[in-house]
Amino acid sequence: MIFSHAIARRPEKNMAAGITTSTLGIPDYKKALDQFDAYVKALSDCGVSVTVLDPLRGYPDAHFVEDAAVVTPDIAVITNPGAASRKGEVPSIAAALQSFRETVWIQPPGTIDGGDVLMVGRHFFIGLSDRTNEKGARQLGDAVAGFGYTWTPVPVAAGLHFKSSVNAVGNDTLLVTRPFADHPALAGFHRIVISPPEEYAGNTLLVNGRLIMPAGFPGTRQKLQALDKPILELDVSEFRKMDGGLTCLSLRF
Ligand code: GLY
Repeated sequence: MIFSHAIARRPEKNMAAGITTSTLGIPDYKKALDQFDAYVKALSDCGVSVTVLDPLRGYPDAHFVEDAAVVTPDIAVITNPGAASRKGEVPSIAAALQSFRETVWIQPPGTIDGGDVLMVGRHFFIGLSDRTNEKGARQLGDAVAGFGYTWTPVPVAAGLHFKSSVNAVGNDTLLVTRPFADHPALAGFHRIVISPPEEYAGNTLLVNGRLIMPAGFPGTRQKLQALDKPILELDVSEFRKMDGGLTCLSLRF
């Protein structure tokens, strides 16, 4: 799928107040801004026109914009994020998407974080996690079914989101952490399995034929080279400290 647009949001000063399970320390705000700018430039270099939203005051996780919507070529599904502190992020993302797509909204008690939703062609894998429940997954599945998409729910046992562990890297291939190496839901795809010390590299992003991966994972980089695609490494250390990464920093469509 070719992406022409993306939406991203500059982090706000108190990003360290966001939700995290990481023990990697407190993010350095200045460094995070530099990493964010490099990320936006990388998307632009892939031919994507990036809309950068202002920081959303009072929402320290709001730069992880991907969790607030699922954008398909046909519609945008505005989520009901699973974390109470993130639900207020949704209206501004809906407003930003309004000129691009018709929107439909996930209704409580359904919850979904976009980080749990992986679209591969016209199929969705929807991770069932602490953030995404079965009711939310079904609402999303129903919303996209009308446009010819199919979907599969997949329980997420480790990591924040499904896309912390599984991402599409082109050539009918998924980059997966070891628990998903033989997962029956993913049958039909080639799989590149990440070794456990490098599992953060599972959060790799395919944009218009190029792979953007987090810096510092040479074993995974070597495996990805088999795909014969340009690879760009980006340092996202400050976002990793807040359980975030390359995929959740933008909505691409
Ligand atoms: N800090 C990202 C999240 O927990 O949603």
